[in-house]
Amino acid sequence: MPEKTRHPKNWKPSTLGIHGQDRVAHAHFAVSTPIVQTSNYYFENTTEVYEFMKAKKEGRTIREHEYGRYGNPTQQECERKLAAIEGAERALLFSTGMSAVILTLMTYMRPDGHIIFTSDCYRQTRDFATNTLSRFGIEVSMVDPTAEAIEKAIRPNTHIIFTESPTNPYLRVLDLPAIVTVARRHKAMTIIDATLATPYNVKPLEAGIDIVIHSATKYFGGHNDLLAGVTLGRRDLLDDLYRMQRMIGAMPGPFTCFLLERGLKTFGLRMEQHNRAGMAVARMLESHPKVEKVWYPGLASHPDHAIARKQMKGFGSLISFLIRGGDAETRRFIDSLELFLITPSLGGSESLVTQMSMMSFFDYPEEYRLNIGIVDNLVRVALGLEDVEDLLSALEQALGRI
Ligand SMILES: Cc1ncc(COP(=O)(O)O)c(C=O)c1O
Repeated sequence: MPEKTRHPKNWKPSTLGIHGQDRVAHAHFAVSTPIVQTSNYYFENTTEVYEFMKAKKEGRTIREHEYGRYGNPTQQECERKLAAIEGAERALLFSTGMSAVILTLMTYMRPDGHIIFTSDCYRQTRDFATNTLSRFGIEVSMVDPTAEAIEKAIRPNTHIIFTESPTNPYLRVLDLPAIVTVARRHKAMTIIDATLATPYNVKPLEAGIDIVIHSATKYFGGHNDLLAGVTLGRRDLLDDLYRMQRMIGAMPGPFTCFLLERGLKTFGLRMEQHNRAGMAVARMLESHPKVEKVWYPGLASHPDHAIARKQMKGFGSLISFLIRGGDAETRRFIDSLELFLITPSLGGSESLVTQMSMMSFFDYPEEYRLNIGIVDNLVRVALGLEDVEDLLSALEQALGRI
């Protein structure tokens, strides 16, 4: 494998997304990272095998690749760049955001343990917490997304605090230093799903959070064309998860990693545009007579605006709002909306729209759904990279049809 060149520079996200911190020379002097589409890597002779196995046993690395489930070069290039952007010692890629969430929890949970989750988190995470973890005898509490509520829920066996910020769909922003203070007081590990923030807008590790997870399907991939997840943190802390990653092999294949790395090259540029579009659209929606209420952390009306201003560089491109009216008016708005595609997800080039009660939460019993705030006139838009003027006029035109 060619030599690495060290660049001990304090580069910004766009530069890190293109170069990472370490430049790795590629075969054939290729500028872009080649897709190494192979399931295994051969040895020239038995001496090479012996030297490789001996070095491995002694904890030395003399060559990186052996078998596809243990990683591939395109994946490792992505991991290096993701770690550089997040400011983490190590990044471990998984095949989806949910496999990153579940495998991280499975690695660090204890049979006698108690895990605190903050509410208003991603639907599948809350289902895993409430339906699956209990089957392993793990105690789970689901609490309001505040440091006070977390501290109140602490038990003698609490060992993990799992949060999300901003949350989904109400975009609650958690006070990360306050949560870290609570966690350290009670010797609990902190894990955050920061998919909606991205390291462009928030750096949880700098606030003292132990482990950060992202669905890389969203802003990192950025084009609505791949699935991936990533867990980041200190090298030693992630040793156990690294073993789990290699044991299960739930990592994206070389082509997905190529697409992800390509997405990282425009990550900074895209985040600037997402932040700009989010602010402009949120302001327009808030002033529109057909809109009852808007949740966007960049607006002064958002309950966590003060924390968001202190903690976030920008507020992203996810906006939740209530249409003035009920189910019929909401459906008329969505069906009249040009440009926006009716589908969940976020962070890609195409703008997306969902009526939350119909899509992500349809199978919940109505009473429970309403109780957690998923009302019929709740709409979530995930702005893409179209011109902001076009997004504004598409939304205004559809609101005019109600
Ligand atoms: C906040 C958050 N976490 C995790 C996930 C899961 O990611 P994936 O779909 O890549 O498994 C999502 C997906 O929408 C999400 O929004």
